[in-house]
Amino acid sequence: MQTLSVVGAGAVGLSVGWRAAQAGWDVTVHDPAAARGASWVAGGMLAPLTEGWPGEESSLDLGLSSLRRWPVFADELGVALMTAGTVVLGVDGADADELDNLAGWLAERGRDVTRLTRRELRSREPSLAGVRAALEVPGDWSVDNRELLAALQARVPVSPDPVHSLDDLDTDQVVVCAGAATAALLPGLPVRAVKGEILRLRVRPGALPPPTRTVRAVVHGRHVYLVPRVGGLVVGATTLEVGVDREVTLGGVRDLAADAETVLPAVAEYGVISVDAGLRPGTPDNVPLIGRVDERTVVAAGHGRNGLLLSPLTADAVLAELNGSPLEEAAAARPGRFT
Ligand code: GLY
Repeated sequence: MQTLSVVGAGAVGLSVGWRAAQAGWDVTVHDPAAARGASWVAGGMLAPLTEGWPGEESSLDLGLSSLRRWPVFADELGVALMTAGTVVLGVDGADADELDNLAGWLAERGRDVTRLTRRELRSREPSLAGVRAALEVPGDWSVDNRELLAALQARVPVSPDPVHSLDDLDTDQVVVCAGAATAALLPGLPVRAVKGEILRLRVRPGALPPPTRTVRAVVHGRHVYLVPRVGGLVVGATTLEVGVDREVTLGGVRDLAADAETVLPAVAEYGVISVDAGLRPGTPDNVPLIGRVDERTVVAAGHGRNGLLLSPLTADAVLAELNGSPLEEAAAARPGRFT
């Protein structure tokens, strides 16, 4: 049996480890803080359409390829998929223009996107308010990221020993899924930390319930998302180019709370469960790095805002790479494209 080390136990590393073990590899996943990085902090959106933007067609295509895998992936793990879809809101005229751009781009690509009148929005999501324009995008889903991580961890044992150098690993093959820490293990790869802060809220007795769909809003140019959970809501996320900084700031919490309250006034009545900060692994073109970097090493990192979404595709792409036949669907993510 061939041996494989996977460095990093976020959603990507655990998915790779799980699929590799299923395929017959003798796998060891390494992480001193398994499932406590960006995947733990995440909101859980599986949203290639509403995360999309003109010029980012490769991200859209990768996301859609991965989303197609999600029903089977979630079913095998026994994790619930929330498929009620997403509404996108704009609060002022410039925000509405941003929605028009997104809607036009998605429609040109044959994607299902509908402009909603205020009345149509109210009939779907009566708790929302303060809106100038709204879109319905049924194809974007969500998952409870922490439920997903628990399901993966139940299937993939993780060694807590830290990996300081890939030379210390004595296996036939190595896959680096170390998120924002990837460049420390594979110097030269353009992966940087992009900080995000997020709130987890509880619906208190007597408060209006949250929306049933994911809500993404542009609030006077700032972006906020609200992802429903059983009995609660996740509100995210700031996007800050401040390097490796995991401290939640008061300004971040203030902005998220204010923007969420603009579109969902009832949120002011909700209880605060936690506030967290995490580090998205960003790349220069917002497309991840998935592929071989030398004869023993494969990288699967730089998933930016879409680590959960892209986990099923990434696991398949890594397995294909290990088998010597790279997956065409993941060609845009080849790590050599910057050199
Ligand atoms: N996927 C949303 C975020 O990174 O905040």
